[in-house]
Amino acid sequence: MTRKVCVIGWPITHSRSPLIHNFWIGKYGVEDALYERFAVRPEDFAATLRDLPKLGYIGANITVPHKEAAFAALELHDATARRLKAVNTLVMTPKGFEGRNTDGYGFIANLRERAPGWSPAAGPAVLIGAGGATRAIAAALEAEGAPELRIINRTKARAEALVTELELRNARVYEWEEANSALSGANLLVNTTTLGMNGEGEIEFSLEMLPRSALVTDIVYTPLETGLLARARLQGLATVDGLGMLLHQAVPGFEAWFGIRPEVTAELRALVLADMGIVEK
Ligand code: ATR
Repeated sequence: MTRKVCVIGWPITHSRSPLIHNFWIGKYGVEDALYERFAVRPEDFAATLRDLPKLGYIGANITVPHKEAAFAALELHDATARRLKAVNTLVMTPKGFEGRNTDGYGFIANLRERAPGWSPAAGPAVLIGAGGATRAIAAALEAEGAPELRIINRTKARAEALVTELELRNARVYEWEEANSALSGANLLVNTTTLGMNGEGEIEFSLEMLPRSALVTDIVYTPLETGLLARARLQGLATVDGLGMLLHQAVPGFEAWFGIRPEVTAELRALVLADMGIVEK
């Protein structure tokens, strides 16, 4: 019997999950596995989710715009998905699909891989943004022992709602104009907005208040080096690009479906970059 898994989104043509999982399926010789794209409109999502087992799927990834709808439609969740009220991975259990969320795991695993000497527990983390990605990253940083979270968002009320809803223990919301004081003494700066993406605006506030030990990272990976990362690098700060978060968030799903913990390697990174038309310098 074929073990079928899919990635569900709308639109789904640009998803790189099939490339990642099919690379691993080939690499580890999982002969009975199949990983497909599944384009599902928002109005059809709940019905499709119910039909997945009948269609032979043993798992799925859930992407934009369905992560919250998946949470709402499922009865079983792991602790992280329950906290975030958003699901990006479905795993079949004897009681039906369990919804999980591996975005925060992917974020932390990427930093561990690319900045091995750096620790999230060493000082305050500054997060720019207040969307779904911010929630996953804030919860993961708190779980990893970050002593303080400082959140800057264009719409301050959204950042305040995020702090309240996630019951973040040691978080403070800053105005955009207060960036200097947020960055002062920080251990990490992460952009979780779409700013810096090709065709979008850039983050423009000064990074001068960041200590020399601070790490700067971005969840945007098109371009691989965003304006924020380039400025941090020129200032002599350590930087990590966002592509690894995409690669690492896929690991727990593959392991749950196929019983093999896959590795994020330079070969996989090069494959995804080539698909994006990027040659790494
Ligand atoms: P997701 O849930 O996928 O993370 P989202 O909810 O649309 O996406 O969040 C996008 C983030 O980028 C938000 O923090 C948004 O700020 P607002 O909450 O003020 O909307 C931020 N963002 C997008 N465009 C921006 C811009 N031009 N300037 C500042 N922030 C921007």
